[in-house]
This record gives sequence, C-alpha cells and structure tokens, in this order.
Amino acid sequence: MTRTVAILGAGIGEKHLAAYLDLRDRFTVTHICDLNTELAQRLASQAGAETSASLDDVIADPAVDVVDICLPPPLHVPVTLKALAQDKHVIVEKPIAGSLRDADRLAEAEAGSKGRIFPVFQYRFGRAFEALAQLRRAGLLSRPLTASLETHWNRGGEYYANPWRGTWEHEFGGVVLSHAIHAHDLLVLAFGPVAEVSASLATRVNPIETEDCAAIAFRMKNGATATSSITLGAADDTSRLRLIYDDMTVESTRLPYTPGEATWTFQARDPNRQDEIDRIVAAIDCPHEGFAGSCAAVADALDGRTGAEVSLNDAIASIELAAAIYHSDRSGQRVTVPIDRSLPICDGFKP
Ligand SMILES: NC(=O)c1ccc[n+]([C@@H]2O[C@H](COP(=O)([O-])OP(=O)(O)OC[C@H]3O[C@@H](n4cnc5c(N)ncnc54)[C@H](O)[C@@H]3O)[C@@H](O)[C@H]2O)c1
Repeated sequence: MTRTVAILGAGIGEKHLAAYLDLRDRFTVTHICDLNTELAQRLASQAGAETSASLDDVIADPAVDVVDICLPPPLHVPVTLKALAQDKHVIVEKPIAGSLRDADRLAEAEAGSKGRIFPVFQYRFGRAFEALAQLRRAGLLSRPLTASLETHWNRGGEYYANPWRGTWEHEFGGVVLSHAIHAHDLLVLAFGPVAEVSASLATRVNPIETEDCAAIAFRMKNGATATSSITLGAADDTSRLRLIYDDMTVESTRLPYTPGEATWTFQARDPNRQDEIDRIVAAIDCPHEGFAGSCAAVADALDGRTGAEVSLNDAIASIELAAAIYHSDRSGQRVTVPIDRSLPICDGFKP
C-alpha cells in the first residue's frame, strides 16, 4: 500500500524527499509546502508534486495521509497538533518540542487522534545498529560498562545566518537540543535509559545566545557510565562513539551525519569469540539506511508489520534528557531522570 505525503519545509525536507523517492512503492509525495516558492518548486519537480505556501491548506487536504514536518522548531508542536486534529499521521523532525511540557502535550493529543506521531531519529538506521541488535540477540553483547561520544562539528557565520538558529526563542536550545540530540539518542539505544546527568555548557565558538560547547557525564539506569563531548568549533565534522561492553568494544567511524551507515569495529574481549562476531557483522543486510530507513520503518509501523522503531516516548525522553542537562548546568548539581516535572526547566530551556 502506498501512502500520500505532504512535506512541509524544503530545507532538510529535500533529504526526506530523496528517501520517499527511494520508497516509491510505499509513499507518494503529493505536496511540497514552503514559503519559499522557488525552493518548493525545485523539490516538487523531482516528485511530480503540487506546491503550496499554506500549511493549513495542505494539512486540510483530504488527499494527504501523512504530514512530514521539516519546519523550524517553533512550528513543530502547533503543526503537529493541527495535523492530529485532522487525524493525519505526522512525521516530525527533531526536536519534537521546545519543552518537556509541550512534548507531553503531543502525547495527549496523539492519544485522542487516529493519527500517529513518528519522530525522526534517522541516525539509528543503518548497518551498524542492525549489527548491534543482531549481536545482542545472539547473546554476544552483555553488560554495558562505559561509553564516550563525540559530536565535534564545524559551524560558523553562514550556518547562523539562518535567523532561527542560535536563539532561545526560535531554536529553543543549542548543541544539546539541536546537534548532540542524535548522539544522546544513540547512547540510549545502545545502553538503555539514563538515570542521572551532570553537565557543563558554554558558548565559546559563535556569537549566539545558546550553548555551542558541552561536557556531559551520564549514569545509565543499568549502572553504566558515559561521557559526551560536544562543540561546533572543530576543524571538521566528526561524530564518534565508543561503546564498551564487558565482552566487546564497539567503535564507530567518524562519519558526522550518517554514523550508523558504516561498518563499525566490533572487537571481542576474548579473541576466541571474534570469528563468531565477524560472521554476524559480515552477514548484515540493511537495504534502507538513514532517512530512507526511518521512512521505511514508518511504513512498516503503519502497515502493522512492526511497532514504531522510534516511538513518541523515545522523542519525549530526548527532550526530558535535554531538560535534565540544562538543569544540571544551571544548578551545578547532578540531576536524576525522570526529572521532577514541577521544575521550571520543564517549561522551556531559555535561562
Ligand atoms: N534529522 C536531522 O539530522 C536534521 C538535520 C537538519 C535539520 N533538522 C531539523 O529540521 C528542521 C528544519 O531545519 P532546516 O535546516 O531544514 O531549516 P531551514 O530553515 O533550512 O528550512 C525550513 C524551511 O521551512 C520553511 N518555512 C518556515 N516557515 C514556514 C511556514 N510558516 N510555512 C511554510 N514554510 C515555512 C522555510 O522557508 C525553510 O525553507 C529543524 O527542526 C532542524 O532541527 C534535522
């Protein structure tokens, strides 16, 4: 069965479009909506889609099954709510909301709609995480011990010329919410939920309101530890993960935006088990990675073949983790998760 999709926002929306075009048997892109008509036209011509500059018209169109929100962050919650009110399914870019309070509102709205929310965490989709899942199923990955994450990217004036970026009002947060949200989601995927964080944030690279450097320490619910080092002032763009389990050390490549789409190193602590690991990793078949993997998973969930690979609760957890990180930095204390929902940080991250 194919589903009709309207892409709202033609920035990262272009990458989403490429994914749908890879999955023509499952999705048909019928609308591209952007205030920038030239941009909308450029994308629409690739798909044979209509263009529009009106979000309301596109959401209300009965021919649209799925609304894919690739708009600046302040539009994520209001547009998701509008689409759910019309029983549309929603694919929504990160961050799903600018506060934990708003993220919780999305869960309430989804419960009252026939539409479902599918958050985008496309870094999860690729052969590396498929390998991790299969190694776990084969009983080869046991206790997580510790992890280190690096999100060391290079962003300057050109990036921040886009007026919504770097501001509390329009981006809601800096590297913690916008950039390292992917690495932190991958940490939770690999190690399980976070129990406690301790964070130190700084703005040292660009003249922006929000943070662009961070050092964060995590304790996971299973007792493992992890650290996340983040900057937008690196010489190049590197995302790196090292995951130490008690019988295996897993190391990513340095690919910044597609870390899961590469072959990682999976090294057994006991060299006698290496062949078994290598056989599993060599046999990985992962036809759709990144955004295409994310969209294929949405189609599978809508067809009832699987549950959602990225659930709304996963995305709410990412906002809750950001709240805990900001609260730790501001209070100078370790903060436990789940976070106390009466704290002011649950209403937004602006200091
Ligand atoms: N998953 C990822 O790896 C990833 C990567 C990049 C961006 N993003 C997220 O995607 C979202 C969009 O980011 P971007 O970089 O594409 O931003 P962008 O500014 O490049 O694109 C947003 C587009 O939305 C359009 N727009 C704004 N208001 C509109 C309105 N009212 N009606 C119609 N169109 C409107 C703009 O004209 C613009 O073309 C952000 O939340 C960002 O964090 C995610």
